[in-house]
This record gives sequence, C-alpha cells and structure tokens, in this order.
Amino acid sequence: MAGHPVCVGVVGCGTIAQFHFQAVKELGEDTAALVALCDLREERLEQAHQLWPAARLAREVRELMAPGDLDLVIVGTMPHTHASIAIAALEGGAHVLCEKPFAMNAAEGQAILDAAAGAGRQFQLCTNLRYLPTSQYLRELVNSGSVGIPLLCKIWSYHLNPPWWAPHYHRSTSGGGVLASTLIHALDQAIWVSGCPNPLSVQAVARRVFPEKRGPLATGEVRARYDVEDLLSGFVRFDNGMVATLEGNWCYERGDSIGFELVTTQATLSSVPFGVLVDKGGKVVDQTPELAGAEFARRAFWHLTDQVEPGKPLEVADTELIAAWTRSICAQDADAIQRLIQGRPWELQNRRQLLNLQRLIDGCYESAQLGRPVELAPA
Ligand SMILES: NC(=O)c1ccc[n+]([C@@H]2O[C@H](COP(=O)([O-])OP(=O)(O)OC[C@H]3O[C@@H](n4cnc5c(N)ncnc54)[C@H](O)[C@@H]3O)[C@@H](O)[C@H]2O)c1
Repeated sequence: MAGHPVCVGVVGCGTIAQFHFQAVKELGEDTAALVALCDLREERLEQAHQLWPAARLAREVRELMAPGDLDLVIVGTMPHTHASIAIAALEGGAHVLCEKPFAMNAAEGQAILDAAAGAGRQFQLCTNLRYLPTSQYLRELVNSGSVGIPLLCKIWSYHLNPPWWAPHYHRSTSGGGVLASTLIHALDQAIWVSGCPNPLSVQAVARRVFPEKRGPLATGEVRARYDVEDLLSGFVRFDNGMVATLEGNWCYERGDSIGFELVTTQATLSSVPFGVLVDKGGKVVDQTPELAGAEFARRAFWHLTDQVEPGKPLEVADTELIAAWTRSICAQDADAIQRLIQGRPWELQNRRQLLNLQRLIDGCYESAQLGRPVELAPA
C-alpha cells in the first residue's frame, strides 16, 4: 500500500463521525481519501456529503462495500449494529476502526475478531483516551517500573446530564448506560495505564435515577425510551493484585469529569487533574511534568453535557476538553492510517485486551442483575 492514500469509508455520519472526518481532513488527500459515506438517514448523508462532495453515498454497509475499493472502514454507528457492520466490512476486505463499546456483549465481540482473523484484516476499537499525551506519559511511567506496582485504581465518569444527543439511553441500541457509553473510556484508559492486567471478578450495583433527576429536561421521545442504568458502582479484582473501584453517573451536579487515579507502591498518579505524586524516602514529591497540549487535564470538572439539548445532535462550544478529545481521536486515526501505509500492524489492542474489556462490562451488568459478585472467564 506504500505510496497510495488509504481509501476510507465511514458508516454512521452522526456525532462521532464529525471527529473522524476532522482526522481524515487533517491527514490530507495524499495520505487518506474519504471515498464513501454510509448512513440510514438521508439528512445525515446529505450533511456529510457537503463536507465530502466527491464521496459516493450508500444507505447500508453491503452497498458501501460492493465496489471493493475500501482499505479502511470507520464504524460510527450505535453499538447494536457494530457486529454486523464490522463483520460485513472485514469480509468486504477492509480493516476496521470501530467506535466503543466493542459490541453488545463478548460473544458478538468474539465474532468480530473471528471475522477479522478469517479475512486477514485488522480490527481496532476507538479507545481514543489512550492517545492523550497524559495517558501515554502515565503508561510509560508504570511500564518503566519506576513508580512500583499498581495497587488501587479509582475510575470514574461523572456527568451533569445523560448524553442524550443519540440513543445512548436506550439499552437495545446502546448495550448499556453510563458504563457502556461513558465510563468505558476511563475504564479502558486506567487498565491500559496499569499494564493491561486480566480482570478476575467483579461486583457491581446499578440503578436508574432518570427521570427523578433531569426528567423535565428530556423530550417525550427520550423519556419514553430511556431504560438504561445511569448510576453504577463496582469493584473489580485483577490478576496483578490490583483492585479497582468504578463509579459512574449521569446526574452529577458538580459537572462532567472522566478519569482515574492509580495508587502504586511508590506513587499516586491521576489522569484529571493530571498529577504524579511520588514517595521519595517518606516524603511526597510532586513530579507532575508540563506536557504540551495537556492544559485541559489540570481541571477536575467541566460543563459539557449541560450544553446539549435533549434529542438534538451534539454541538458543544469549543472547549479545551473538546479540543483535547478531538486531538486524541485525530492521533488515533492517524496512527491507524499511517500504519496501514507503512505496512506495520495495528498494535493498540490485542484480542485479549478487547475481550477482557467487554467481559468486564458484561460481568458488571450480570453482577448488578444477580446481586452478587461474578467470576470472569479468562480471555
Ligand atoms: N470515542 C468517543 O469519544 C465517542 C463519543 C461519542 C460517541 N461514541 C460512540 O460512537 C457511536 C455512535 O454514537 P453517536 O453519538 O455518534 O451516535 P449518532 O446517533 O449521533 O450517530 C450514529 C449514526 O449512525 C447512523 N446509523 C444507525 N444505524 C445505521 C446503519 N445500520 N447503517 C448506517 N448508518 C446507521 C445513524 O443514522 C446516525 O447518523 C456509539 O458507539 C458511541 O458510543 C464515541
């Protein structure tokens, strides 16, 4: 493929697709050519077509794949369609970058990975927070062994309001609420920084607070379909001895915050506010570095979901958080595309990590339903 632009198709031209469009635009036509767009909804296709007038349009994935010209398909639809779309794209000969969560459950995830192996194509999940400079710094630090061994990880995803610009509140579309839609970002980020240990068991409690809180803000359509958990706490044991607490909700009056804090045998590391506090001979020393582009990570809370009108597409003001989030998605897509051009394999996640993440999510929901801890099968 060296010397040719990667031919990209996008399925689902909604909210998250706008970030991927930006990534492809930034790479330039010689590196990545957006040649095909697919959405069920005409108005979404038309909007995307204005950005990419030369792209051909398709209403479903098999029509998109039919000409056989795509090297890469980015799947930006809701999770209930991830497996069928990703498998069709892989079998159609493309590599696939798929939005989180992986799928509706681990069995679907396994089917996607089997299809990738069968087709000799690569699959990667858009766990874009791994591409924040702060995540990469903390990962290197833990990997180097200089801050000791991970012991305790607190992982959270607090939001003022539900992300109701798309049906993330409707289980048969989203696969889950705060855990599958938002906490998953910090969960993956924290596990990755901690060296990707295998989860052994999980106990979780989940409940739905809406419409008790925020109910009057929602449209009738949202109220009628809202059936996911919007508050979840969990406790996870990992095979490296680390334990993690999970906390997520969509009704947090203090604002929006998504991140983790990791206590190791020699330090306390946090993603937001970004910090590296190290034990030096019994004294706490602040070794937080200045990282380019990491200003947003100094703040603990943001106001993001209060700018979203229920039932309307996400159009939030330009904040440092959105800028940093966009940068992480651009870096993620650029890495995948550059690797395709250079013939280097994608290395972001392997099969074990992908299945572990989905099994952990499935395990949380199972535990919450059964009211007891559940053991997790090794990936
Ligand atoms: N990585 C991130 O930061 C991030 C942020 C937001 C959303 N997401 C993920 O992106 C995915 C989409 O979320 P969103 O908020 O963009 O939703 P959205 O509803 O705004 O966009 C989804 C689009 O997919 C289209 N679509 C649905 N089914 C389709 C099908 N079968 N074929 C073609 N098009 C189809 C819809 O018409 C819609 O335009 C979800 O999995 C979500 O979790 C990721």
